[in-house]
Amino acid sequence: MVTPIRWGIVGLGRIAHKFADDLRLLPNARLHAVASTSLDRARTFANAYGAPHAYGSYADMLQCPDLDVVYIATPHVLHCENALLFLENGIPVVCEKPLAMNRKEVERMVHAARRNRVFLMEALWTRFIPAVDYALALAAQGEIGHIHTVKADFGFHLPFDPDSRIFNKALGAGSLLDIGIYPTLLALLLFGKPMPEDVQAVATYTASEVDESCVFTFQYPEKRLALGHSTIAANTPVEAWIHGTAGSIYLHPRWHHTQQVTVSHYEGNSERKFDAKFPYPGWGYQFEAAHVMECLEKQRLESDLLPLDFSLNLAETLDTIREKIGLLY
Ligand SMILES: NC(=O)c1ccc[n+]([C@@H]2O[C@H](COP(=O)([O-])OP(=O)(O)OC[C@H]3O[C@@H](n4cnc5c(N)ncnc54)[C@H](OP(=O)(O)O)[C@@H]3O)[C@@H](O)[C@H]2O)c1
Repeated sequence: MVTPIRWGIVGLGRIAHKFADDLRLLPNARLHAVASTSLDRARTFANAYGAPHAYGSYADMLQCPDLDVVYIATPHVLHCENALLFLENGIPVVCEKPLAMNRKEVERMVHAARRNRVFLMEALWTRFIPAVDYALALAAQGEIGHIHTVKADFGFHLPFDPDSRIFNKALGAGSLLDIGIYPTLLALLLFGKPMPEDVQAVATYTASEVDESCVFTFQYPEKRLALGHSTIAANTPVEAWIHGTAGSIYLHPRWHHTQQVTVSHYEGNSERKFDAKFPYPGWGYQFEAAHVMECLEKQRLESDLLPLDFSLNLAETLDTIREKIGLLY
């Protein structure tokens, strides 16, 4: 029998509930402990998901026996501090995106993970969604020729609320770090290193002085372009296109956790298309969790699919966009 992996969750907001839901889809996963700024909330959450341990502070969870890994689901500004708490105590960490507010903070986390020889991964669930993985594999094996353009958007309309995590600058708010990270991720996954030769970006701002909408382009060698759009002012299609010299791959809405892709091949002036469907139960967080558990079972210190150097590049790219749009935290 395989020994179950015992998870802890830090910060019990919206995403923590979804993640806990999806852990239940994995026979080898156990929710072992939860930590909140409120002991009442921790107890309620633990009861709802059957976790045996509940803590009223994040540091208290260090006392938890037999914790294999923690998932950090606090606002972006706390990721670095919260992750360091566990990494410095030898506990593996999966931390929500963005891994931290900027490359400097990500470097601190990566150094702590490497120095303590402990696993760390950014929770970029999109990388592990089966349909996205399929599209990336097709693109990598040349199915649509030389890829020259990647285009992705992510937008939803949210009424202004200065106290919410999405609008409150003190919590690291704004469209880019919250959802613009996904189009950026897709460009980096497809074009990867080297970093973009050129980054252009423009943004509009909320009354709370964070980016409401952000449009950015990356230019890479070999005639490659990526276009990204994030907004908290409109419900946009949330779709992605990968264009190559021999065809296109379309990731259906909502592309970052899509269950369907359409592949088109150019045939003269027409196109031949086929659909590929990858239905899954739950929210879609079980795939990243399963990958983390596999890494831990194999005693890896980082993911081969989302290595720490990737997160460093991602943070640097986001820093460059923020420089262009003048967004300082
Ligand atoms: N992968 C995805 O699909 C996805 C989706 C949404 C969000 N996220 C990421 O997950 C993180 C959390 O997002 P969320 O939407 O779950 O946020 P949320 O609902 O606001 O929850 C964040 C939790 O962090 C804790 N927290 C600690 N200090 C806080 C403070 N000063 N202000 C507010 N909350 C504080 C709170 O839990 P306790 O009081 O219980 O500790 C709070 O419930 C963000 O970094 C976001 O980018 C990822």
